[in-house]
Amino acid sequence: MKKITTLLLLLSLFKLNAQEVSIIPKPTSMNVKEGNFTISKQTKIYLAGSNLEKNAAFLQSYIETQFGIKLPIVKSGVQKESIVLNFDKIGHAIPGAYHVEVNNDHIYIGGDNEQGVFYGIQTLIQLLPTTKINPLTIKQVSIEDKPRFAYRGLMLDVSRHFFSVDFVKKYIDYIASHKMNKFHWHLTDDQGWRIEIKKYPKLTTVGGYRNGTIIGRYPGTGNTNAVYGGYYTQDQIKEVVKYAADRYVEVIPEIELPGHSSAAIAAYPELSCFPEESTKHPANTVWSGSKEGKQVQQVWGVHEDVFVPSENTFTFLQNVLNEVIPLFPSKYIHIGGDECPKESWKKSAFCQQLIKDKQLNDEHGLQSYFIQRIEKYLNSKGKQIIGWDEILEGGLAPNATVMSWRGEKGGIEAAKQKHNVIMTPGEWVYFDHSQNKPEDSVTIGGFTNLEKVYGYEPIPKDISKEEEKYVLGAQANLWTEYINNNSKAEYMIFPRLSALSEILWSSKDNRNWIDFQHRMQAQYQRYNLLKINYNKPAK
Ligand code: ACM
Repeated sequence: MKKITTLLLLLSLFKLNAQEVSIIPKPTSMNVKEGNFTISKQTKIYLAGSNLEKNAAFLQSYIETQFGIKLPIVKSGVQKESIVLNFDKIGHAIPGAYHVEVNNDHIYIGGDNEQGVFYGIQTLIQLLPTTKINPLTIKQVSIEDKPRFAYRGLMLDVSRHFFSVDFVKKYIDYIASHKMNKFHWHLTDDQGWRIEIKKYPKLTTVGGYRNGTIIGRYPGTGNTNAVYGGYYTQDQIKEVVKYAADRYVEVIPEIELPGHSSAAIAAYPELSCFPEESTKHPANTVWSGSKEGKQVQQVWGVHEDVFVPSENTFTFLQNVLNEVIPLFPSKYIHIGGDECPKESWKKSAFCQQLIKDKQLNDEHGLQSYFIQRIEKYLNSKGKQIIGWDEILEGGLAPNATVMSWRGEKGGIEAAKQKHNVIMTPGEWVYFDHSQNKPEDSVTIGGFTNLEKVYGYEPIPKDISKEEEKYVLGAQANLWTEYINNNSKAEYMIFPRLSALSEILWSSKDNRNWIDFQHRMQAQYQRYNLLKINYNKPAK
């Protein structure tokens, strides 16, 4: 079987030289015709539909940057020798359907809406040569295409390691170029608070920096002994959100609660059950700097010091959310909810009394109470919460969307309870896992190679037809404990992002691993063109 696969792959590599059409994610249908169309200095971008200036500028900029030709954008004249951007009523339930026609004398892109036109442009970009050659000759082709899932996401953890605004924009470009539409921005965690909150400046001046970082895989071989940190100002956040919106990517911020909150507690110790107790770290890890008082964590993992469910904490969190809400137009705010150890709440007389007063069963009930209060507040502001699947424990908040990460179980359970679900099971879509055996750099562990990602199906087998509608889509997560630079972040998402995009966009029947590997040969060349660092496929 392996021999046949290799042979097919070699044959396909050979065929690729004849400049064939190779689109990822795979379109719904495609008909390659005889003949070509050549984009030259005479070619114009013709706006037949209104409000398409932004899309036209995007296409213009791409062709100019990669191939040095600046195509004029026009709104009248003849459509011959033009790339026509227009709207077509396609009527697909999920926004983003489009169709592309490359004829002998013009190119036509018709989108169901602006987003559809943008995806048509992304397809046209993939019809262009994968190297900086001229003339820009492309195949005549007819393509119909539409997305399978509404939620097509990628997460970036900027707490464990911080990534610049410029890199975050690149990351958004990677999402958009794969016809994906959600950027989940994990902004707060134990090792750093990364979003400016004007009412609580210490969240970033104190919570944004740690005195060191363990070296190597947990528990580590020492400590860097170097202050590490950074944060985004609210103006930078707005800039990123606009950049993403121009590419039809929605930014969903995550503000972690009640666990993973050491950085916030370092800034404001009264948010802890035990404000006087110094921050703990495991005995087999090396700490840098002061061990007195509350500190931003330097060690990966799950830590016991979590938010105390006091009125003071709820006021604090509501004030934080009051500043977060206007920055993000998304209807969602992700509130975390994962990995909240219950030790502090068990030891705290205040928490035990609260469990009695609120007639809760136990600490899981207290977690549910915490999440439900935050949900109620956010719902009153017109926002919906997303939480990791632990929010099922102790009772789900009434309108919550569940992100299923500990396998598919949480997603199945939430769908059965008629709650929306985003699938992000570690085994298939945690891009911090190694892609190689043995691993070629320190990773968190696990093994999730390209084939494994490609084989993932977001609709779990164990749900009914009726429950399928609750599965909004899926997302890959890039946790960054062991990813401390841009180049490695790219390496970890590529090429797996290309596989993810196809399982989210293309119909299930249209997926084929052999054919995908074949199309990936052109995709690797595109990565080269864009100077992306990626994990090269095994020969
Ligand atoms: C998670 O990976 N802790 C959501």
